Amino acid sequence: MPVENPITEEKRVLGKLLFWEEQLSSDNTMACGTCHRFKSGGTDPREARHPGPDGIFFNLDDKLGSAGVIRSDALAEFLSDATFGFDVQVTGRAANPVPMAAYAPELFWDGRASSTFIDPETGQVSISQGGALESQSVGPPMSDVEMAHEARDWGQLTAKLETVTPMALATNLPDDMAAAVAGGATYPDLFAAAFGDGTVTAERIAFAIATYERTLIPDQTPWDLFIAGDDDAMTPGQIAGWNTFRSGQARCDQCHTPPTFTDHTFRNIGLRPIDEDTGRQAVTGNFGDRGRFKVPSLRNVGLKPTLMHNGGVVGADLEDMRDVIDFYEEVNGHNQFNENRDPLIPGINVPGNQEAALADFLTNALTDPRVAAGIFPFDRPTLHSEVLPANPEIVGRPTPGQGLIEPTVIAVSPPNLGSTDFKLGVHNARGGAVAYVQVSPTPFVAHTRLDWRGPVELAGDGPGEGFGTWKWQLPHDPVFVGTDAYMQWVVLDGDAPNGHTARSETVHVTIF
Ligand code: HEC
Ligand code: HEC
Repeated sequence: MPVENPITEEKRVLGKLLFWEEQLSSDNTMACGTCHRFKSGGTDPREARHPGPDGIFFNLDDKLGSAGVIRSDALAEFLSDATFGFDVQVTGRAANPVPMAAYAPELFWDGRASSTFIDPETGQVSISQGGALESQSVGPPMSDVEMAHEARDWGQLTAKLETVTPMALATNLPDDMAAAVAGGATYPDLFAAAFGDGTVTAERIAFAIATYERTLIPDQTPWDLFIAGDDDAMTPGQIAGWNTFRSGQARCDQCHTPPTFTDHTFRNIGLRPIDEDTGRQAVTGNFGDRGRFKVPSLRNVGLKPTLMHNGGVVGADLEDMRDVIDFYEEVNGHNQFNENRDPLIPGINVPGNQEAALADFLTNALTDPRVAAGIFPFDRPTLHSEVLPANPEIVGRPTPGQGLIEPTVIAVSPPNLGSTDFKLGVHNARGGAVAYVQVSPTPFVAHTRLDWRGPVELAGDGPGEGFGTWKWQLPHDPVFVGTDAYMQWVVLDGDAPNGHTARSETVHVTIF
């Protein structure tokens, strides 16, 4: 804990709210917790593919990363991305776990979140040492892949937090979060409780989120109980696995050093060719750091859906602990890349009759049952994005336009009361066409005259190349809660098969 940011209960709860707040993103679709879920060991169960440095999907340099936001411009209007089009963009590395992050002097796989925290609004040093969590936390809210539209600034986010209803999108709030927002507390109220006055700043957002993260300590694993003297906390097989883990032959503990199960160094284990991701070298500029990645803590590793910085499965073919052990031993089809490989790696040997025990130890003895079960402090609300059926939900069928191409609707932002960030996009429409959004309180029936909103002049040129965005300021009046609305893009297109219009699918929203 850095001296500049002592832990207090008010700050912890505010940090927990912000961490699970989908309204922290520009389009209200992403919280920190969307990509960092405890039951997945603090990482992301939504495996999403990144094409790697060659930009081509489905070959060996692909990564399994985390899905973020659909690309949008400085005005929050949808924009096609060269790699992901109008789909959500995906990070180029797998998400690290958040529990245990408090111990690391530098964060991210390459350590680019530094111990010295610079306030992004003032440019001043805010924390001189031990502020890696704060440094890290100010990245995602401004990242136009993870949570933001392009050119988002802190003024926009702090102004938004001053007006939104905390946790308006989440349900099933844990008791501590529910108590904090009970009685209609606003974010300025919560910042006042944590910091003395209600001003919302980037530095205070970082201080609160980092404080919450510093309380996520998974220290009740079977291994912890065993070390504390409970001989029965680990099974005989796990005890054998633990002995293998720290044996001179296996050497695991020389990098994954207990009790944190990391020595906080950056090493190259020969997972993938260096030119796919230079890792630590890109941060330090040192040639010797090429292909090095942070030694991850192995606590809760058994809960992780993907392994390693690249998500493991693609290229390296690592699905589980047996595969990882095979990889370290270079057996059963697993190979390492020699360039700049750590000298400890080639000599690793796990005797064949100990592999199952070592895998059992890694998978089960390092898991804190509170993390696996989502028990305090590892409890959390349900995110809006997890609730089915989705709201907005895409229900109807499109009808084609010029070139027989069907316009596609983009509907991701939740329709909550008072939202200023609700928007509908369209793409695959006729370039340069004029389009409207048709709105109805009931499902559409043929030839009804409905409320048309717009016009939106579509960008792009040519059949199927048109795209555009329509924004809707939702009403504030609670009388609208529970109101249904059906919306569909109508693109004026004289070359459509019906001679006048093309239509997207229909979107059903229920205001809440
Ligand atoms: C779109 C998914 C996504 C969102 C949203 C997101 N993260 Fe992450 N997080 C990642 C990925 C991917 C990495 C690893 C990136 C890398 O190393 O280059 C990461 C790394 C981290 C780490 C580093 C842990 C370590 O051991 O080095 C922390 C801490 C963290 N995120 C916290 C947060 C916080 C706090 C927020 C919200 C302000 C957040 N994340 C939002 C995907 C996400
Ligand atoms: C030279 C240091 C070193 C040694 C020795 C070592 N590891 Fe690792 N380990 C790493 C690094 C670095 C990574 C991350 C590599 C990457 O993503 O490119 C890693 C990743 C892992 C992972 C994936 C963790 C995650 O969160 O995705 C597991 C599991 C693992 N090691 C187990 C072991 C076992 C078991 C041994 C002993 C047989 C071992 N390691 C020996 C450095 C080491």
